[in-house]
Amino acid sequence: MIPKISKRAQAIQPFHVMKLLARAKELEAQGQHIIHMEVGEPDFNTPQPILDAGIAAIKKGDVHYTSPMGLPALREAIAQFYQDKFQLTVSAERIVVTPGASGALLLALAAIIEPGQSVIMADPGYPCNRNFVSLLEGRNQLVNVNAGTQFQLNKELVEQHWTNKTAAVLLASPSNPTGTMVSEKSLTDIIQFAEQKQMAVLVDEIYQGLVYDQPPATALSLSDHVFIINSFSKYFSMTGWRIGWLVVPETFISVVDNLAQNIFLAAPTPAQYAALAAFKPDTIKILEQRRDEFKLRRDYLLAALPKLGFTIPVKPDGAFYLYANCENLTDNSFEFAEQCLEQVGVAITPGIDFGNNKAEKYIRFAYTTSLDNLKEAVDRLERFIAG
Ligand SMILES: Cc1ncc(COP(=O)(O)O)c(C=O)c1O
Repeated sequence: MIPKISKRAQAIQPFHVMKLLARAKELEAQGQHIIHMEVGEPDFNTPQPILDAGIAAIKKGDVHYTSPMGLPALREAIAQFYQDKFQLTVSAERIVVTPGASGALLLALAAIIEPGQSVIMADPGYPCNRNFVSLLEGRNQLVNVNAGTQFQLNKELVEQHWTNKTAAVLLASPSNPTGTMVSEKSLTDIIQFAEQKQMAVLVDEIYQGLVYDQPPATALSLSDHVFIINSFSKYFSMTGWRIGWLVVPETFISVVDNLAQNIFLAAPTPAQYAALAAFKPDTIKILEQRRDEFKLRRDYLLAALPKLGFTIPVKPDGAFYLYANCENLTDNSFEFAEQCLEQVGVAITPGIDFGNNKAEKYIRFAYTTSLDNLKEAVDRLERFIAG
């Protein structure tokens, strides 16, 4: 007899953009030039000092398991990062090194959710979170957000949707797909409300280093009871190394240690050694230049897309995405994205990949390609829209 696939696994849907990506690859194989604006990872390679540290570790034989919570030196380096950047003293004991923010999200949610309990999160939002919650037999409470709240949850929305089955509220600041941040006031109010209700607050700060008009922020400066998710993937350009971190409240240290041991044993060792070079001044210098480049790209698209008929409801504070309303151009953003790929070779992500909230009216543009490519993409889009 052939084994049966679990209902839990079957319920997980692939991203719609994967279909577009597969088609893009086919077109590329036929010799067409595709401009990729669907990809959620920096086009830059990992900075040289990080590569060098990773290679040196492998050559030296640093390829064995580390402790489940991570290399002590890296946990210290992350604690020092909070001290240097935010003048915050965070004990390295509270920091867990994880396989990307994905590992951090899974650990945090596993530590919090009882079967049947729910997690409040914004729609549109990063799609994997819902699947983590479902796998843990929790329930998703997706809350529609719009430009009125910068596409973020606020205390009123959280209060409105809270029930005595709510285990946690999950925020991302800056967010994927909108690039907007949660204001300090809003975060303070949400944290206060959550403390009254004994509800966990999880803040995904994976795009923390990629903010353009204001200094980076962390919810750790507001409370020691929040769970902070972060990663070396985006600002540090280390997507494929699979390394991130989680900061937990003091009382969760031991349970998260047990979970980490059991779920993944430890984050990849060469990646942990490589990440030790991530906070070094010569690395930061490279990363800050890249951030400037991302800002130029964002500003270019912010000016160019409205001329084509898109509306950008809120100026993104960070990340490398623009969440554009396309209702003046189409009533089906998925079809629009498909046709755009077929006709002019520009790959973009339809709103449906981020939830159900008016998803057909939105397209996410990732500016993870050069300014020249973005300019070419805008010319092609203009041709496509002109018909
Ligand atoms: C908001 C958000 N959180 C988490 C992740 C997962 O990142 P990683 O596991 O590469 O650190 C992503 C990736 O796109 C993301 O956009």
